[in-house]
Amino acid sequence: MKLIEWDENLSVKIDSIDEQHKVLVDMINDFYEKIRTKAANELISELIKKMKNYTVVHFTTEERYFKQYNYPDFEAHKKEHQDFVDKVVDLEKRFNSGKVILSFEITNFLKEWLINHIQGTDMKYTNFLIQKGVK
Ligand SMILES: [Fe+2]
Repeated sequence: MKLIEWDENLSVKIDSIDEQHKVLVDMINDFYEKIRTKAANELISELIKKMKNYTVVHFTTEERYFKQYNYPDFEAHKKEHQDFVDKVVDLEKRFNSGKVILSFEITNFLKEWLINHIQGTDMKYTNFLIQKGVK
């Protein structure tokens, strides 16, 4: 069973960004599955690293658009991205040093963050970026 099912409610109406969001959804689902099935620590650690790296790639894509078109909410949006990256980096550190046992609480945090961020923060740029011709 998937933790998150991507559907139109998560669409920001910009294909290039939706595609990246789908990758993040897949990664969180994979993370959930690995915890559910008690996968080996190395596999989980690898996935956290992949997730961290892809998150940075994705945020960079959005922020590039913001800069390019002078998006008014740039700073606040960027701060949300940075806070999330910090959380994932911290999670990675604590997991790799054996200080945290992964739980559904963590998968739920990732899920809630992504859904709230897409629906609450990302969707604010939809009209702005579409008007600028971003696809
Ligand atoms: Fe964002």
